Amino acid sequence: MSKSGDNVVSEAQIAVHWREEEVFSPSAKFIGQAYASDPAILERFREENFPECFREYADLLTWDQYWHTTLDSSNPPFWKWFVGGRLNASYNCVDRHLASSRDKVAIHWVPEPESESTQAITYQELHRRVNEFAALLRDDCGLKAGDRVTLHMPMVPELPVTMLACARLGVIHSEVFAGFSGGACGGRIADSGSTVLITMDGYYRNGEIIDHKMKADEAVITAEAEGQEVAKVLVWRRHAGQFASQSPMVDGRDFFVDEVLKDYRGQLVDPVSMRAEDPLFIMYTSGSTGKPKGAQHSTGGYLAYVAGTSKYYQDIHPEDTYWCMADIGWITGHSYIVYGPLALGATSVMYEGLPTYPDPGRVWRIAERLGVNIFHTAPTTIRMLRKVGPDEPAKYDYHFKHMTTVGEPIEPAVWRWYYETVGKNEAVIVDTWWQTETGGFMGATLPGLMAMKPGSCGPGVLGVYPAIFDENGEEVDSGSGRAGNICIRNPWPGALQTIYGQPERFVSVYYEKYCRDKDSKDWHDWPYFAGDGAVKTADGYFRILGRVDDVINVAGHRLGTKELESACLTVPEVAEAAAVPVVDDVRGRAVEMYVSLKPGSDPDGVEAKVAKAIEREIGKIARPKKVWIVADMPKTRSGKIMRRVIASISNFSDYGDITTLANPEVVDSIRHHVQSEKMASHDVPRELTFDEIEEINSFGKE
Ligand code: WT7
Repeated sequence: MSKSGDNVVSEAQIAVHWREEEVFSPSAKFIGQAYASDPAILERFREENFPECFREYADLLTWDQYWHTTLDSSNPPFWKWFVGGRLNASYNCVDRHLASSRDKVAIHWVPEPESESTQAITYQELHRRVNEFAALLRDDCGLKAGDRVTLHMPMVPELPVTMLACARLGVIHSEVFAGFSGGACGGRIADSGSTVLITMDGYYRNGEIIDHKMKADEAVITAEAEGQEVAKVLVWRRHAGQFASQSPMVDGRDFFVDEVLKDYRGQLVDPVSMRAEDPLFIMYTSGSTGKPKGAQHSTGGYLAYVAGTSKYYQDIHPEDTYWCMADIGWITGHSYIVYGPLALGATSVMYEGLPTYPDPGRVWRIAERLGVNIFHTAPTTIRMLRKVGPDEPAKYDYHFKHMTTVGEPIEPAVWRWYYETVGKNEAVIVDTWWQTETGGFMGATLPGLMAMKPGSCGPGVLGVYPAIFDENGEEVDSGSGRAGNICIRNPWPGALQTIYGQPERFVSVYYEKYCRDKDSKDWHDWPYFAGDGAVKTADGYFRILGRVDDVINVAGHRLGTKELESACLTVPEVAEAAAVPVVDDVRGRAVEMYVSLKPGSDPDGVEAKVAKAIEREIGKIARPKKVWIVADMPKTRSGKIMRRVIASISNFSDYGDITTLANPEVVDSIRHHVQSEKMASHDVPRELTFDEIEEINSFGKE
């Protein structure tokens, strides 16, 4: 990955690793039914029609009051979309579909145990469940528009019910991925100022019921230590009437939802009419420094954007069965399991558990049983499914018309398996590049109109005009083969409105780098800095190379090096810690931790303690592949740990020039220790690609 515009990546070098010239065309059958098959749509969304082009997305929604100003850019970069408009997201995702589709399945929920049957929740039933729970939130918890509530819920239908109940009241939800620790959840409770935590007793994962309520107790303690009192903990139960947790209910604080909900049977709650720019939810994401950032998303702009992109890029028609196999705890699930599909009145599938449980055929069995024809997942999952069951898909009678990939670059070989084996050569693939912050897709092909190129996401999506800038703010030409920073030149309706509670950080992280004039009221002067390196080929397709900051993308999810390192520092013996990425064929990148110990401390058991601390502070997903205890870290003269040097050691790549180090002599001993142990345990990575070497060599660079 290149961090600077001077860093030249030639097309030839790219071609050696990823054969970019190869293109695949959508089938006539797909084109024949696609929503976007007339190139006129590209005209409508051309730059000269911006911002009015986004009317088309907003018109997919039902507004209580129509908006008067499409884009208000008077206070850059705090853009406001559809100003003057009022709407309710819950009404748009539920109520308005009742007249025509009350019996249609809104959510097919597939429990992990195959002995439990699938739940088909119709729009009618969803409406009832959302209303009753909204009544509970309002009357039992006293929640009202603008309040924040933290959810720490797994993949159960009660999660979208809870989100939509919040949205009905204008309450801002902040869902924390269930796999995250209680401590991580507590930090987010405190940051968002939530007084209510909504959780679940337990859920199934890999054949076991996980005790989840336990984490709520820890979350409350952490939040309180950070000054945020939690008045109520609402606990949904995986099986009503049974309790899957060992953790006791705290009197006066903890309540079983199924018990309280009885008082609200049949209650209806009027959807609260919100301003388009009122926040709908907060979703936390990692950055290279500091605490996680609460990306705040709006009601009108966000909902319009995810509805529009679900329609044209996911191509979800009323008769389709759509399955996005992401977790709702991440932005993908918010936008493309819940809000986008339900705004369109579609049928969305949710699966509780592990894709490979109880065997590698599970995913395809679900697809066959439910007649899924649109499938959406991440490269890490595709790699895993391919590894454990390369021939499984052929054994099942399902047919996809469309498949999505999201979260990280997909290797062409993996793309091909997805296309040929999973898609049975029938389905289009849409590689969608975007971020928690962007709310919806930023780079992708319009599947009925554009060819697919394995390893490239495609051009900017409708109404989004990306560009690659070098370090000096000069645009890098298409087809030059030079990498640079991918930016979005214009505002778009799905963009985060701010970092919750930290507007200055919002401006500095995303807009400072390429702002041409801080006093300008013209959006042209405020490109959005995405933090990814990319190249643009002559045909306008972008190829994303990865993050330019010190963020490690594990299985499609961003982990901040700072968070990992501070988790290690909670181990009393640890003096210094450094997190580095290692190339991992399933998860994309995995984390390796390097720690040095305080003088005189006993190294025995430290590795396990470090792994445990990370699991506790962040969650299982962040668990390091390996913890290396070293005598000293390679450092610059100013004392900064040279992460790129240890990253190179972990990845067996050449660490280049180390003459500027204050202690170059430590490098050799670390290399010897790490690499000989890796060789002994046959953990030597395959030969890295040019891009991977670039990424490792620039990791942690200033
Ligand atoms: C980062 C965003 C997008 C929702 C899930 C992750 C990487 C995302 C792609 C893609 C190459 C991708 C980028 C981005 N990324 N999609 N199709 N091709 N890279 O959301 O946790 O906010 O992470 O994921 O590096 O910046 P996130």
